[in-house]
Amino acid sequence: MSDLREAAARGLEQARVRTAALTEFDEPELTRQHSPLMSPLVWDLAHIGQQEDLWLLRGGDAARQGVLPAAIEKLYDAFEHPRATRVALPLLTPQEARRYLADVRDQVFDSLAARTTAEDLFPVVMVEQHEQQHIETMLATHQLRDGVALLGAGAALPPPRPVPHDAVLVPAGEFVLGVDAEDEPWSLDNERPAHRVDLPAFRIGRVPVTNAEYARFVAAGGYREPRWWSDRGWQHRVEAGLERPQFWGVDGSRRRFGIVEDIPPDEPVQHVCFFEAEAYAAWAGARLPTEQEWEKACVWDPAVEARRRWPWGASEWTPALANLGGAALRPAPVGSYEAGASAYGVEQLIGDVWEWTTSALTPWPGFTPMLYRQYSEPFFGGDYRILRGGSWAVGGNTIRPSFRNWDHPIRRQIFCGLRLAWDVV
Ligand SMILES: [Fe+2]
Repeated sequence: MSDLREAAARGLEQARVRTAALTEFDEPELTRQHSPLMSPLVWDLAHIGQQEDLWLLRGGDAARQGVLPAAIEKLYDAFEHPRATRVALPLLTPQEARRYLADVRDQVFDSLAARTTAEDLFPVVMVEQHEQQHIETMLATHQLRDGVALLGAGAALPPPRPVPHDAVLVPAGEFVLGVDAEDEPWSLDNERPAHRVDLPAFRIGRVPVTNAEYARFVAAGGYREPRWWSDRGWQHRVEAGLERPQFWGVDGSRRRFGIVEDIPPDEPVQHVCFFEAEAYAAWAGARLPTEQEWEKACVWDPAVEARRRWPWGASEWTPALANLGGAALRPAPVGSYEAGASAYGVEQLIGDVWEWTTSALTPWPGFTPMLYRQYSEPFFGGDYRILRGGSWAVGGNTIRPSFRNWDHPIRRQIFCGLRLAWDVV
């Protein structure tokens, strides 16, 4: 059990290194609101500490006194204060926020030895996942921010090989959707329980849709043709003035973390909303997958009729298997991860870009809320679409093939793209 505890402590430390790297800038960068869609970075910073304080020092009991006075702690309640309003709150300064995080972390480490079972350690890893999720949010804030580049161009990626952009058949039949805590102790409530689901045959893209492919849709007038769009999608396209993916220029360039560069043709397209993904799929004679189809293509091994832990098998992630962890600051070109393919031969399901699916957020049959009851339950049935697989920005224990992310169908500042699917007739 001490191994599990050490791994949990390491997870917390690794998340904090990433948090520090995204918030080590001068005060104005942290206190400014770079977009109405996002919090000032200093809010995310202190909120990370507030959640750690609440779940790991007080067992989730908000009525107990935390490290901060209650009136200040309330400023970091995400349900109480929408993102657009947070800049006007009397927030902690960056220096105060850093000290707060360090105080909470010291107390957490002091109390860690008392956690002896996987169940005891679940809140620790849940808090690590929370911090990692905010790290991705802070990266989205950095991407939206104007001004000189602060984060550099990103680390090198493995060289890609030529790969067919074809459709892979997934035959009809049952598979196991979702996971149980016994197999995936750090899975969150909406991923559970494991249950059998029967799906008709379908085809799914071997690789995600690339920039070059998406650029052809733009050049062919896809943003001028209502027939490719759903009614709601077209209405949004017109109202929001969408003409191309976010951060693309008219001249074949894109802006990435303050750097203007040519759009790399073979990278998975990023920063398209669900409605754009849906329109592209219609133009391409395809559709988007459901999340059930996505998960089956990712983890089901038809030869042994069982789930794999990862698309590539049981071994833990390495940089040769998928683009995760955030260092690259971009998706990898398609064909970069032959060894990461699923049993069906589908590639780059984990990492690179979150992939839009047509599914809404609903509980799996037998859903039981976890100790953070508000993580999933308030969002069931809302106006969201599920995204799967994680992006290049995802770190730590935050991604599993069963992991379900959700967002409004108009959102595109997140690191999202798409993969096509087809009915088999
Ligand atoms: Fe949060």
